[in-house]
Amino acid sequence: MPDESLRQQLLDAARGAREAAYAPYSNFKVGAAVLTATGEIFTGCNVENASFGATLCAERVAILTAVAAGHRGFTALAVIADTPEPVPPCGLCRQVLAEFSPDCRIIMANLAGQRQLATLKELLPLAFRLPSPEGGAAG
Ligand code: THU
Repeated sequence: MPDESLRQQLLDAARGAREAAYAPYSNFKVGAAVLTATGEIFTGCNVENASFGATLCAERVAILTAVAAGHRGFTALAVIADTPEPVPPCGLCRQVLAEFSPDCRIIMANLAGQRQLATLKELLPLAFRLPSPEGGAAG
């Protein structure tokens, strides 16, 4: 798990990214930030669509933006929303993160300042992987 100052930096980035959330249908704004193995931070917010299934979660926007910039190793992911308890990432986003970094750490938070820490393996113990050689993009 990144140290406290890095965790706070990641949460601040996620909180800031949440401001850009496009959520006219649910009114539920989410922000996320991933820390790459090289120490860079990429952020995302949820982006909804009138065709509801086209909606993207904040976490996937952050992860995929980082992947598009050439990163495939993630040390930690922070996610934040205005929820009574720290918000957990959805199952789909867990699987997307597991594709690249099964050992990633997760920082869940809410706007009230509550936090919960977990590993991706705790949140998704049996991530799906294709048998090799197609079995992963790690590295
Ligand atoms: N959402 C996220 O951004 N991340 C999650 O982990 C769960 C759900 C978004 C998708 C949608 O825009 C809204 O929250 C309500 O589901």
